Amino acid sequence: MKALEGVKVLDFTHVQSGPTCTQLLAWFGADVIKVERPGTGDITRGQLCDVPDADSLYFTMLNHNKRSITLDTKNPRGMEVLWEMVKVCDVMVENFAPGVLDRMGLTWAKVHEVNPRMIVASIKGFGAGPYEDCKVYENVAQCAGGAASTTGFRDGVPLVTGAQIGDSGTGLHLALGIVTALYHRTHSGLGQKVDCAMQDGVLNLCRVKLRDQQRLDHGPLKEYSQFGEGVPFGDAVPRAGNDSGGGQPGRILKCKGWETDPNAYIYFITQAPVWEKICDVIGEPTWKTDPNYAKPPARLPRLNEIFGRIEEWTMTKTKFEAMDILNEYDIPCGPILSMKEIAEEKSLRETGTVVEVDHPKRGKYLSVGNPIKLSNSPSEVKRSPLLGEHTDEVLRDVLKLDEARIAAIVESGATGAVTRAAAE
Ligand code: COA
Repeated sequence: MKALEGVKVLDFTHVQSGPTCTQLLAWFGADVIKVERPGTGDITRGQLCDVPDADSLYFTMLNHNKRSITLDTKNPRGMEVLWEMVKVCDVMVENFAPGVLDRMGLTWAKVHEVNPRMIVASIKGFGAGPYEDCKVYENVAQCAGGAASTTGFRDGVPLVTGAQIGDSGTGLHLALGIVTALYHRTHSGLGQKVDCAMQDGVLNLCRVKLRDQQRLDHGPLKEYSQFGEGVPFGDAVPRAGNDSGGGQPGRILKCKGWETDPNAYIYFITQAPVWEKICDVIGEPTWKTDPNYAKPPARLPRLNEIFGRIEEWTMTKTKFEAMDILNEYDIPCGPILSMKEIAEEKSLRETGTVVEVDHPKRGKYLSVGNPIKLSNSPSEVKRSPLLGEHTDEVLRDVLKLDEARIAAIVESGATGAVTRAAAE
């Protein structure tokens, strides 16, 4: 039995943040029914397309294991069906712009009255405050949540990261909120509202930077390179390039081949307990006892020099050779892996973290499987649904509507032309 078997989710999500959340629930075994606009569906189906007439990877990689029903919620019959779904589902997840749900009449009060057990989970860009009405996409959240101002180099512009911490990160937060509310429901019998703002989700992931903001009141941040370079700190946490946080200074260093390979680099951490081993590996045994290098505080003002010397060593090795040597000594490090290398990595295929999925319109493609592994309920990645593929079966088998009612709904155009043709 899957962990969330028996949980029915009305998936009213689109683009990335919401679908990330409902995909996780589907992987854990929930029956996720995605409600989409007839004709177009989730806008990402047609964005960044690579194969003509097939759903994009943008869509397929975020909507595995779900069913799809097309429903025009601006059609009264469509709303009627939606309310039927509210009655039988356990969770509704949505990430529309602020106000959309209210305009549909799906207020929390009304939903709670119709189905007191239903959990209503929402993602918005911002929580209550000056920006609560704003529409938000990934990079806006990264900027508003403190990630951009603290990412990049001190002398460069703020940077956004490739990891989708605003969208996928918030989806992940929301999924935790939903399963927590489901657990609470087993005691209380009642559903509750779960809200997650993207700004908050990003800030939660930038927690260490708010820590540093307060440390700044008590003096310079000594593990930041700029301290060793003698550059004074301002009143806000600066961008720290590739410096690692915490008490274990780290950097990205060149490896053999860096002149032509943009990813021939390794992340190297000068963890204090293995300092002596580092000195031996790089050929500086006197640094083990030299008071200028022996202890972590003495090293902080000299990080550029120290990492320069370590880099002289890493440049003589490929990133994988360096990784093998350093790991023998328990020195924490990590190769900079390209997406190509990750896609081809055998061990990731074996754990199901990278999976090959077959799709009727686009053929085989790679996806990221469930990164969360449950020992008794392993996830199986199934292809994303075609637009409206399950409309008929949801109306019949989930909502248990009779033939006359289904005919009236289809006739009204609420489920769109495709379903009507199929029904005829
Ligand atoms: N049938 C008919 N209409 C539908 C529908 C359906 N099945 N599903 C949605 N709609 C309508 C809604 O009723 C709404 O119309 P209205 O504005 O007339 O009330 C509209 O489609 C959707 O609205 P919206 O959410 O504003 O879409 P958008 O494309 O303009 O904005 C976002 C996209 C992502 C910016 C916005 O949804 C948002 O800010 N979401 C919250 C934050 C978020 O999740 N952002 C990250 C996305 S990865």
